[in-house]
Amino acid sequence: MKRGTLYGVGLGPGAADLMTLRALDCLRKVDCIILPRKDEKSSSVSWNIAEESVGLIPGQERLFLSFPMSRDPKVTTRAWNVAVKEIRDRIFAGKSVAFISVGDPFIYSSFIYLYEHAQKSWPEIEIKVIPGVSSISAAPIAAGVPVADGRERIAIIPAVYNKDDLRTIIRMFDTIILMKASSVMPEIVEVIESEGLMDKSIYVASATMDKEQIVTDIRTIKGKRGMYFSMVVIAKKDHSGVLFGNGV
Ligand SMILES: C[S@@+](CC[C@H](N)C(=O)[O-])C[C@H]1O[C@@H](n2cnc3c(N)ncnc32)[C@H](O)[C@@H]1O
Repeated sequence: MKRGTLYGVGLGPGAADLMTLRALDCLRKVDCIILPRKDEKSSSVSWNIAEESVGLIPGQERLFLSFPMSRDPKVTTRAWNVAVKEIRDRIFAGKSVAFISVGDPFIYSSFIYLYEHAQKSWPEIEIKVIPGVSSISAAPIAAGVPVADGRERIAIIPAVYNKDDLRTIIRMFDTIILMKASSVMPEIVEVIESEGLMDKSIYVASATMDKEQIVTDIRTIKGKRGMYFSMVVIAKKDHSGVLFGNGV
């Protein structure tokens, strides 16, 4: 029997018009869209981005699957086993299935686990991945902070690093994008302050979404946690301006 295709679809950072035409076209055509959410009581953050644009498609299935935000592998593995079975059943019944991700599906997305599992366990199926505008580019643009020019070096890290690692990375790179910042904002601000980079750092939350928040003076949020979708961009600009003979 013919197998269905598995799609990983990047939805962009939040604004509906930052979803690509390819993503929209795919979501309007597939038999089933997987709507990831953190638990049964929550809505799907990623589906909130796409729902209005995709609209109602007769006969299309929309399946909520829960992916708990837990560090306990027993909890996460149980949820993944359920998800994998649901997705497999549909693909092996010949249906096309799209798994949606905020931003880009290959950047800190749950889709990566599914992709690797599918490649290994279901080698006969076709997998297609549709890139999305990542928050890595959308958030600095929302904040008006160019990420890198000429010879500047960029580090992109989840901010769950300990303070010493964070300090080392901050010293090594010109621009540092700290993702997953919400729960560790107080520690991040502490390190930034001790490195003398308060004036070169910007906090961006929910970029391009209705509740977008940009804080250019991070002293005002010292000691506070960040929003769910938040990041800090540190742009030193010590090596920028190669075009004009600077930054070397
Ligand atoms: C699980 S990762 C998903 C990244 C996503 N795949 C991407 O390409 O942007 C979640 C982190 O991405 C960042 N993020 C995603 N969307 C964002 C947005 N609209 N504004 C600011 N940060 C965002 C935050 O740092 C958040 O903690």
